[in-house]
Amino acid sequence: MNILMIGTGYVGLVTAAALSEMGHLVMCLDIDAQKIEGLKRGVIPLYEPGLQELVERNSRAKRLLFTTSLQEGLEHASICFLALPTPSSADGSCDLSYVYSAVQTLAHHLYRPTLIVNKSTSPVGTADTLQQCIDSILKERGVEIQVEVVSNPEFLKEGSAVSDCMKPDRIILGVKTAQAAKLLKEIYSAFTINHERIFVMDTLSAEMTKYAANAMLALRISFMNELARLCEKTGAHIKQVRIGIGSDARIGTQFLYAGVGFGGSCFPKDIRALCSIAQEQEVDMPLLQAINATNEKQKRLLGEKILSFFQGDLENKTIALWGLSFKPDTDDLREAPSLILIRQLLDAGASIRAYDPVSNEKARVHFPSLCFCHDEYQAALGADAIVLITEWKQFRSIDFHKILPHLRQKIFFDGRNQYELSEMQALGFTYFGIGVPSSLEIKKESDAYQPISS
Ligand SMILES: NC(=O)c1ccc[n+]([C@@H]2O[C@H](COP(=O)([O-])OP(=O)(O)OC[C@H]3O[C@@H](n4cnc5c(N)ncnc54)[C@H](O)[C@@H]3O)[C@@H](O)[C@H]2O)c1
Repeated sequence: MNILMIGTGYVGLVTAAALSEMGHLVMCLDIDAQKIEGLKRGVIPLYEPGLQELVERNSRAKRLLFTTSLQEGLEHASICFLALPTPSSADGSCDLSYVYSAVQTLAHHLYRPTLIVNKSTSPVGTADTLQQCIDSILKERGVEIQVEVVSNPEFLKEGSAVSDCMKPDRIILGVKTAQAAKLLKEIYSAFTINHERIFVMDTLSAEMTKYAANAMLALRISFMNELARLCEKTGAHIKQVRIGIGSDARIGTQFLYAGVGFGGSCFPKDIRALCSIAQEQEVDMPLLQAINATNEKQKRLLGEKILSFFQGDLENKTIALWGLSFKPDTDDLREAPSLILIRQLLDAGASIRAYDPVSNEKARVHFPSLCFCHDEYQAALGADAIVLITEWKQFRSIDFHKILPHLRQKIFFDGRNQYELSEMQALGFTYFGIGVPSSLEIKKESDAYQPISS
């Protein structure tokens, strides 16, 4: 089938590449001419495992095309996917201006029956208001064609976006007509050959499902982060607690990791948007409000631990940062906890040596004068403390013996609980994790320990 993808970012490009891999003819449209020119030459504007090969293969096969021309796009297809930004407005509500602007332009150019498939995460009721907007523009133009707006929220995760798209857990279709459902099922049938994963519902429920899914996942993270703080006070161990509760099939182990808080382009802004919808509807949702409030606190926690250890003074201290992106396997820094930590450390006078496997250049835009290193070993040179922020796999098997002679002090702050206290202590580190016993607590306990004399 011929498909037009409007918006060629994380969602648009990955979805378009996956659809073309399944044999559809997909044209990607973006207003960013530089991005489109780069894509035509094979330059992928973002880091996502497996994406480069997928784009290259399907571009070569002429199943994946790129353009900045809406006219060309509409000649190519009468099925238009929207993968446009829906950031937070200043008041936390969802800013739909990108979506409206694209849809208004689209409506002025439509000339044949068209299906508009909204993949952008959008407030409940957006498909309806987009439909009204298109209908009124078509009426003004005196054009009588059937255009339906449907909601098809996206659930891919950055870092595993290609495999999420190729093997989706589920595909949610919010539609008004059986005709739209049939067409979309045809498009997605290649992804659901072995398992039926398509759920058809009304547009309002589809839109709500996306926000509900993100809120539930973020809630689990914030819950574990709160519990981790209590673990630190009580001496319990959050990693053990996770295993203990996660083994209950009703709970499961996913999204139960305590850490430095969640970031990225989705959870924080989608929860703000859902809170704003609740407020608009005058529905009191304190649980929802608490998710982001807890997360904001958590994002500052690691910085506070570092400051507390060095008694608030980081002048003449060098801090090595491992990982900057909001999660591994992506270069996305949107709302990343690292950005807050770096600010806290710089404000306290620290020198920072930072390294991320793929997002150094994006981070340089935020902090041009920071020292960016080419690997984690170089970052650790002369450090008073090493801080692990993003759990890239390459940090799992570090040769610490290569690092130890070059450290000024052996202090390790593990924002993702990747290491074990006993192993780090055996290497001579003073170790701090999140919600797990630290070297200082172990020392306090052993100082207090009085062997019973026989
Ligand atoms: N990134 C994710 O992991 C993810 C996952 C699920 C859902 N979503 C949702 O998907 C939507 C897109 O997110 P994203 O991360 O891909 O955004 P993005 O910022 O990476 O990409 C958006 C693209 O749209 C382009 N654009 C803006 N206005 C345009 C217009 N009028 N015409 C054509 N192109 C235009 C931008 O230039 C950009 O390339 C958002 O609603 C987001 O919440 C994102």
